[in-house]
Amino acid sequence: MQNDYPRLSLGFFPTPLHELKNLSQLFNGPRIFIKRDDQTGMALGGNKVRKLEYIMADALAKQSRIIITVGAVSSNHARQTAAAAAIMGLECHLVLIGREPKESQGNYLLDNLLGAKCTCVRNSQAAATVESLMQEYRDQGKNPYFIPAGGHSTEGVIAYMHACQEIQQQAEYDFAAVITAVGTGTTYAGLYLGEKIKNNGSQVIGISVGGDRDWCSEKVLNIIHPLEKQMGIILSQAADLNIYYDYIGPGYTKTYPQLREVIKLVASQEGILLDPVYSGKAMLGLIDLIKQGYFNREQNVLFLHTGGAPEIFSYNKFLTETD
Ligand SMILES: Cc1ncc(COP(=O)(O)O)c(C=O)c1O
Repeated sequence: MQNDYPRLSLGFFPTPLHELKNLSQLFNGPRIFIKRDDQTGMALGGNKVRKLEYIMADALAKQSRIIITVGAVSSNHARQTAAAAAIMGLECHLVLIGREPKESQGNYLLDNLLGAKCTCVRNSQAAATVESLMQEYRDQGKNPYFIPAGGHSTEGVIAYMHACQEIQQQAEYDFAAVITAVGTGTTYAGLYLGEKIKNNGSQVIGISVGGDRDWCSEKVLNIIHPLEKQMGIILSQAADLNIYYDYIGPGYTKTYPQLREVIKLVASQEGILLDPVYSGKAMLGLIDLIKQGYFNREQNVLFLHTGGAPEIFSYNKFLTETD
């Protein structure tokens, strides 16, 4: 099915997959492996590059001359979209939710370097701003292409179904579970559907970074049901999804001390950098499940590193605080 969707080459694939030996030893098993989608290449990488290879192919087919997307001021998706548009010689206009930063930092700094136009708005104004920009660019004959926040689209799901195949081709082992951060749920949805089709008993565990159960379930099910119908397979229900909500802390982008400890632990043990918004929370979830005895020592588990490095620098105060 993935092959029915056109794909461009924007990043570096397959991304590496390797073992985190020090962490595995520290917890006395299971064996922990990592899939490095933080190393997808384009403009500091991350999971959106995979999605954009399919999304931008669709934009190209529709002969759009400008890409519009929406996200938080700190959005990794916005930065990667800006990079993809730059590579393809297209204009890019980002509608960013939040106050315009006084100091250009993190993804916002990179959005501007990558040549995107940025409009910062309140959450309540985002939809209307997108609508009026779409109209403006339509009037200019640019045939604007809109990408939903986080690349939450069928193409995004297809991209992570393909990642499942990539993992299968690379891995010498069967994984008891694949663990990923859940933002808009697109990455989770693709892995979940990919594993459902393979049906080899591997679980896909999501760690929500902000959304509650109802919100995440709806996001995932809405995006996979049309594909499940197309494939003629049983429609998934909320109870089939395995997403944890215990690691959100005070909310999306909000931090708490255990998060800092895990980020420091993984950096000091493995030389792997995790961000406080996505990959740090996901890793905290994995480590907590290991500590609770969720996996046995002989099992292999795979952590999907979805990227997010540019925002590490925006959290310099949090990351250097001591309790
Ligand atoms: C670094 C990073 N990790 C994980 C996610 C979550 O991915 P998804 O929106 O597909 O759930 C995002 C974006 O939302 C992200 O930028």
